[in-house]
Formats: sequence, C-alpha cells, structure tokens
Amino acid sequence: MILVVGGAGYIGSHTVKQLLDQNFEVVVLDNLSTGHRESVDERALLEIGDLSNAADLDRVFGKYSIDAVMHFAANSLVGESVSNPLKYYKNNVTATITLLEKMMEHGVKSFIFSSTAATYGIPDTDIITEGTLTNPINPYGRSKLMIEHILQDFHAAYGMKYVVLRYFNAAGAHVSGTIGEDHTPETHLIPLVLQHLLGKRESISVFGTDYDTNDGTCIRDYIHVTDLAEAHILALQSLQNEQKSNEVYNLGNGKGFSVKEVIETCEHVTGKKANVIHTERRAGDPAQLIASSEKIYEELGWKAKYSLEEMIQTAWEWHTAHPNGYSK
Ligand code: UFG
Repeated sequence: MILVVGGAGYIGSHTVKQLLDQNFEVVVLDNLSTGHRESVDERALLEIGDLSNAADLDRVFGKYSIDAVMHFAANSLVGESVSNPLKYYKNNVTATITLLEKMMEHGVKSFIFSSTAATYGIPDTDIITEGTLTNPINPYGRSKLMIEHILQDFHAAYGMKYVVLRYFNAAGAHVSGTIGEDHTPETHLIPLVLQHLLGKRESISVFGTDYDTNDGTCIRDYIHVTDLAEAHILALQSLQNEQKSNEVYNLGNGKGFSVKEVIETCEHVTGKKANVIHTERRAGDPAQLIASSEKIYEELGWKAKYSLEEMIQTAWEWHTAHPNGYSK
C-alpha cells in the first residue's frame, strides 16, 4: 500500500490516479485545506487528517500496511512564503519532520519527496542540472531544500531511502478531463490565461517585459502533470527494486517558453484573443529556468511526453468543463 500525503492536491491527485491505473493500492492522507475531496479517485482510500498531527499519522500507519510514502502536502506560493515564512517553515519543514519520524517509528523507509526548481534560486547557467548550485532566494525554496538536506542525514544515520523530484512548472490536466488544476487564489500563468479566455477574468498581466530574454519576458520550462506523475511511479519502482536511493532528479521538458509565447499558444489552442496588459516585474522571478532532465532519462528512462500545446489543450478541456473548479 502506498501512502500519498497531499493526494487531494493538483499533482497528488494525478499521481494517485496513475498509481491506481498501474495497480498500486493507495491511501490518501489530506487535510483538504487546499486539496479537493472530489479530486481523489474513488478507487483510493481517503483519510482526512494532518501530517503535523502525530495522532493522525499513528492512526494511518497503524491501520494500513504502508510500503512507501509520497509527500505532496506543502504550501508552494513564493510570494506568500516571503510575507509569511513561519507558515512555510511550519507546514513544509516541521510537519515533514513529524511525517519522517512517524515513518521510521512504523518501519516505513521509502520516501518520494516533491521538491522544486525554486531550490536553485537564480542559476548561473542556462540549463539547470542537478549539479547546479542550490541557492534559494525565498523561504519556499529554502523550506524544500532543508528537507532535502534532512533526507541526506536520515539516509546516512537511519537508512531512509528516498528520491527527491525537483519540479519545474507543472501544467495541464488529466486526459480524461476529470481532474485538473483548481487553486484559490490562482497565481499560475496558464490557468490565469485560460480563465481569462473563458471570460472569467478581464485581462492577463505580463509581469515584466524588460528581462534579458529574446522577447523580454520570463522563460520557464513547463511540464505536464501526467509526466510528473509518471516520474513518481518510476522513482517508487526504483526504490522498491533497490535500483536507486538517495537520488535527486529534475523534472522538466528541457525547453523554455517565454510568457509571451505561452499566451500566444493559449490563443492558438483556444482560438481566442487575449487582452494582454504589461505590468511591472513580480518580485523574486528569475529571468529563465530551464531543466536538464538527462539524469532521470539515463537512470530511470523517464522523458516528458507532452508538448506545451498538449498541456494547454488538456488544461483548456478541464477549465471549460469545470469553469468554477471542483466546487460547481
Ligand atoms: N506570470 C505573468 N503573469 C501572471 C502570472 C505569471 O506574467 O499573471 C509570469 C511569472 O512572472 C513567471 C511565469 O509567468 O515568469 C510563470 O509564473 P507562474 O506563477 O505560473 O510559475 P512560477 O515560475 O512563478 O512558479 C513555479 C512554481 C513554484 C516554484 C517556481 C520556481 O509554481 O512553486 O516555479 O521558480 F517555486
């Protein structure tokens, strides 16, 4: 049985579906603070509880025979982490330590951890490899990197087996159209553009047009949520086969798209014209983040399958079918 903590969230719910499709048994632990009950596949068991609460963890580890844990439950807004770092260190660091402690108490030693490109900060290279210096510039990135370091120490001291996955920009929705992205508030580029093109927002703002990039807007590496989910399963299998342990992998497409290019692709996919407003830079945005995912390709055979058009197409299908997200 695989325990998916945060399995009612965006990336967690897609991974749960994929685990079930590949015949894993899944129990989800989620406090539903940002996740959605409706996003959890009905083949999974759902336990409502909080990973910061030792009693909730004891209950779940006591009730099920857990082989491995995937941990998606975190706060992940860079701006909020700067204004409220306590929330990030409590929810992303302290609560994760409680989870790791309870895993060890209950004899569970396999862990897949969701990390982020934000651990790199402003990279001094065009293409980021796992060897690129980690130098996070905000509490969110620091909170994730702290857990990466804790995992190294727990591996050395307690034999914890883990894989860290550093996501670049997750996007898209499941091809079935049944699950997708639903954040409140929404801050990510692609859902904001699509919500605007659906008529739910007046315009789309481009945060900064004076970056040192081809068209002056920020470049990001977008990766389909289904590709991310697949990487988690390969990572899990590599731990289970004792093929790999204490590894860190980047998960991206290896291609960068500017904010302008993303908006144009959204216009192309939907056949609608966006009302684009140029505004100031958003604090803390690096000009360019592009991943090399060569390491996970060579070691686990993972490669991104979905293009930017396919990410936007699947996201568009989700947003048009669920204009108000899961709630309506
Ligand atoms: N952007 C706009 N207008 C908007 C929203 C975003 O121009 O209305 C721009 C941003 O400035 C950025 C790009 O679109 O250049 C992508 O922004 P997102 O907010 O969609 O994603 P981020 O790159 O900021 O964030 C992602 C993850 C974070 C992670 C970060 C690492 O969502 O969890 O990458 O840098 F920390």
